[in-house]
Amino acid sequence: MTNQIPTLAQLHSLVAQQQPQYDDANELDSVLAELRTRPPLVFAGECDELRRKIADVAAGRSFLLQGGDCAENFDSVTAQDIRGKLRVLLSMAVVLTYAAQMPVVKVGRIAGQYAKPRSKDYETRNGVSLPSYRGDGVNSLEFTPAARRHDPTRLIEVYNRSSATLNLLRAFVKGGFADLRTVHTWNSDFVHSSNVEERYETMAAEIERAMAFMVACGVDDASIRTVDLYSSHEALLLEYEHALTRIDSRTLTPYDTSAHMVWVGERTRRIDGAHVEFVRHLRNPIGFKFGPTIRPDEAVELLNRVDPDHEPGRITIITRMGANLVGKVLPELVGAVTSTGREVAWVCDPMHGNTFTSENGYKTRAFADVVAEVNGFFDVHNEMGTWPGGVHIELTGDDVTECVGGVDELDETDLISRYETACDPRLNRNQSLELAFTIAERLSKGIPGRSNAVQAYRLEDF
Ligand code: PEP
Ligand code: CO
Repeated sequence: MTNQIPTLAQLHSLVAQQQPQYDDANELDSVLAELRTRPPLVFAGECDELRRKIADVAAGRSFLLQGGDCAENFDSVTAQDIRGKLRVLLSMAVVLTYAAQMPVVKVGRIAGQYAKPRSKDYETRNGVSLPSYRGDGVNSLEFTPAARRHDPTRLIEVYNRSSATLNLLRAFVKGGFADLRTVHTWNSDFVHSSNVEERYETMAAEIERAMAFMVACGVDDASIRTVDLYSSHEALLLEYEHALTRIDSRTLTPYDTSAHMVWVGERTRRIDGAHVEFVRHLRNPIGFKFGPTIRPDEAVELLNRVDPDHEPGRITIITRMGANLVGKVLPELVGAVTSTGREVAWVCDPMHGNTFTSENGYKTRAFADVVAEVNGFFDVHNEMGTWPGGVHIELTGDDVTECVGGVDELDETDLISRYETACDPRLNRNQSLELAFTIAERLSKGIPGRSNAVQAYRLEDF
């Protein structure tokens, strides 16, 4: 790592996959000049703090929960929408913390997740071909030539919407919304119909009693009243990420101040590519998405390039193998990385390897497959003696119908009623909480070879 970052021209001399094709260089230049003058969205010290917390995850001392939309969109930057996503993330975190007695590092896929890699550059409808939708940070979903133009001025809007989102999140998590004594109210609008709501209510009541006890004993710690929440997104748009990268005045090293953590996606992770070259200079914690085609030696080479010093907490590996492949391909990958002596945070994305098209034409995922991949991930790590460090989930706080299955037994005909995602299907609130209980159960059973004070705790009590 140096205290320099490559120039955009240097990055573009490498293979830069999945980039917008801007048609007006002057327009792009003035957008980037403007972005370079804007204040950072996050403080470098917060990125360091998250890196230390991820080091704890890598060392098996805590669990990482990362979640949010597949793609945020500009119109959804409303108080209601942001509150809904925060509520489901915090609820999941409380389930994991309380039921599994495990510290949870909370990271949103939020406040910057505005760009998507696409498998096809063009979309064709009724014989008309237009550029694919690449996220609100690039173009608009509407199927017209004007809407699908790659518009650099959208990058300013990415900054503005991310800033507004982060501002409200910071207010919520430090201003009382996340107070553990109010856990009950987070989901008070639940329709009391299912097992998940009941389990949540029972747990919330227990937490309230425990909190009341602690307060009566005189404990009134900030950790009861506030939460640390970090932002993250895929570092896909090189121009934007580059414009928000600043040299920290304390350490004289570069931080991408668009988010606390950024990750490189499955489609842009080539070792000689521009994205890897960019992130290797950053001090932020960095994620890598690895799908089933990753070769273990390739992964090792990539990690050596980005993190030659094996710095604790710098690397998170987010595996997204698919429920049917996780047991086959993950062991070799874990074995190869572990044999280098490297301690990374291993995180399971049980979403992206389990997408299919329903009979009635919706891109969906089955809750059972999501659970199966999480279980497969835990099984592999248990067998290999490594720590299953976290999960990475696409979710929303709303009661949408985008993934089938789960406690409400959504089937393919239900997808019609509330299918609202701009990109991939997300778990709704019930499905997210049900998943959190499932994971808590795995964690509370304990991990072979580890002492786990929680093992005696019976989750069935909820
Ligand atoms: C995503 O996280 O939305 C995504 C595109 O994932 P992946 O890079 O793993 O395909
Ligand atoms: Co997605």
